Amino acid sequence: MDKIKIIGGNKLSGKIYISGAKNAALPLICASLLTKDTVTLTNMPELSDIKSMNALLLQLGTQIDEFDDFVDGHPSKTYSYRTPEATSLIAPYDYVRKMRASYYVLGPLLARYGHVEVSLPGGCAIGARPMDIHLSALEQMGAKIEIKNGYIIADCPNKLQGKRIPFNIASVGATCNIMMAATLAQGTTIIENAAKEPEISDLAELLIAMGAKISGHGTSTITIEGVESLHGAVHKVIPDRIEAGSYAAAAVITRGKIELINAQPQTLQNPLQILKDMGVKISETPNGILVDATHAHLVGQDIMTDYYPGFPTDLQAQFLALMLTADGAAMITETIWENRFMHVPELLRMGANIKVHGHASAIVRGVEKLSGAQVMATDLRASFALILAGLIAEGETIVNRVYHLDRGYEHLEEKLKAVGADIERIHEADDIAAE
Ligand code: UD1
Repeated sequence: MDKIKIIGGNKLSGKIYISGAKNAALPLICASLLTKDTVTLTNMPELSDIKSMNALLLQLGTQIDEFDDFVDGHPSKTYSYRTPEATSLIAPYDYVRKMRASYYVLGPLLARYGHVEVSLPGGCAIGARPMDIHLSALEQMGAKIEIKNGYIIADCPNKLQGKRIPFNIASVGATCNIMMAATLAQGTTIIENAAKEPEISDLAELLIAMGAKISGHGTSTITIEGVESLHGAVHKVIPDRIEAGSYAAAAVITRGKIELINAQPQTLQNPLQILKDMGVKISETPNGILVDATHAHLVGQDIMTDYYPGFPTDLQAQFLALMLTADGAAMITETIWENRFMHVPELLRMGANIKVHGHASAIVRGVEKLSGAQVMATDLRASFALILAGLIAEGETIVNRVYHLDRGYEHLEEKLKAVGADIERIHEADDIAAE
């Protein structure tokens, strides 16, 4: 298994290109299942989660073409997806186990074919990840759902029926799935208490370009008027706000200065305000966001995660790491996932002062310095928090289980190296040779 080695202490400075958003790209790929025509997605990041989703679609009968592209001044991928007829309506356990977002095939395949079988995802490191909201909404739209042998088996021989569906939680996944399913339903679907994340609006924009009738995306009430069929479209994936927030944190923790090219400030208002409150200079540039912590005297700030536009849970671990060497105490409260402080025990091994209270809160008290250590992460964003700690720790930090990072951070070492980090990947073979 690959590892990442970091020698801490370098101030980062320069520019980092922000890639296309993973969490936008995954449902966009599945939206292509709604039509027999070609859906082309540009500005796609090169990530293992995208490869996993592509593998699932290939297995369903989708034809995929891949092109190297150059969008907004940096290399990216363009993929074309074409599913004239699905050859399978089953998302097997082995695919869903690797990547929970595989459940995005549920809505599109059920709407187009009236049948789908998707392995239930089960829990993961950060929480239980139930799917009750997705399933109850589809049932309200007329689907018959059975759980058998670990699979969701959904049937709707006649068309799904448009309904007013109030969600009890503003679930991102359920909003995407039901929005996709409703595009081909009979009548109008109104999702109340819908998620408002920018990735939902991006999906709505692609669906509209494919001929769907959607309004209200970006607000908590989304209206979808069903149409007979959808057609092909070309769509550019939005920049990844979580990647942008993560590299903003890298600039701040090293007291450096980084311009985040293509980052969208309007999608990061809450995290950027936290950085300003910490004493960091944030400015909008013609190309993105400039994060300047070169003269900052960092002061700890309380953070509570929330649904968009609140502070994103996917930046909680990285911003907790920011507080490790800031002045004073910071209370970090996690409200979305029940088990999202798994990075804390690893950070403690590097000399951090953190106390976790129950499942929901952690108090971080700033320390003078951290020291490098061998650490191990349990999920994607927690891994980045360990990278951040490694960037300022004295000596060498080895981050194990790099496959977590490869799921969501495109060309991580290259991007950090280009702004001055002392970072390298140790491949398994090199590692064995070194032992
Ligand atoms: C998506 C993101 C993930 C992010 C999360 C919250 C993707 C691929 N993943 O995950 O990175 O952390 O949004 O911003 O985009 N819930 C239920 N029942 C359901 C569905 C959800 O109780 O049927 C609960 C979950 O347990 C959780 C909360 O709702 O507590 C939010 O989950 P949700 O917004 O659905 O997250 P995901 O779409 O899985």
